[in-house]
Amino acid sequence: MSATVAEEGIQKPQVLRFWSTTTGKKAVMAVTGAILALFVIGHLIGNLQIFLGPDQFNGYARALRHLPELVWPVRVILFISVILHIWSSIELAVTKSEARPVGYTRWKPAGSSYASRTMYWSGPIVAAFVVYHLMQFTFGVGGTPYNRLDTYGNVISGFRVPAVSLFYIFAMALLCLHLRHGLWSLFQTLGFYHPRHTPRIHRAASLISLFIFFGFISIPIAVMLRVIPPIL
Ligand code: HEM
Repeated sequence: MSATVAEEGIQKPQVLRFWSTTTGKKAVMAVTGAILALFVIGHLIGNLQIFLGPDQFNGYARALRHLPELVWPVRVILFISVILHIWSSIELAVTKSEARPVGYTRWKPAGSSYASRTMYWSGPIVAAFVVYHLMQFTFGVGGTPYNRLDTYGNVISGFRVPAVSLFYIFAMALLCLHLRHGLWSLFQTLGFYHPRHTPRIHRAASLISLFIFFGFISIPIAVMLRVIPPIL
């Protein structure tokens, strides 16, 4: 009798088998998170050039627009990373809830930090922030004045609206909370775990997140305080 397909044990491709394990999904989340964090650091360094004046900042934005061979691959990688990051986080949440089908009678957050418990709501809020951010500065439909050729002016007129600046500061705080725990988990997932190095890894994750937080919020604050002036 010939063997059935199941008996022959037709194997899924290795990449799918890896994805179907919890370790595989954690690795995908770690690698895509690292890609997104690298983009955020690069974007911050680019944005801080606003303190060097309109010519420098608009020149930087113009230079990027003239480099489609760099910008488009980066956009595609970011897009795929965002999708995989969200997808793996949902799959892991489902696996976790299936492992514990009956909820705790009394919720005890033993063993999980405040930051780890916030990952599942800080992530969606940061994603919502990015959607608004793209509407505002990339597509010009965020409700603040927009001129495609004046990125400096777009940032100034955007942050002159206190509600917009406050929303950015709030979103940056959540982003950094998310990043702090994400960086820490990334090191663990990739196997950099040793009791002796743990405090150092925690400190490095906190320092990088604080640098990103203060770097980004310095821009709306400087605009509101008129440290970064409009072009007259
Ligand atoms: C004070 C904070 C920020 C400022 C002033 C800022 C500024 C800008 C500006 C001006 C652009 C449009 C550039 C152009 O098209 O010429 C942009 C694009 C973008 N920003 Fe931000 N940004 C900030 C924070 C962030 C954060 C925290 C993230 C991610 C979590 C982010 C993600 C993006 C993305 C994905 C784009 C689109 C890039 C592309 O067109 O390829 N930004 N940002």
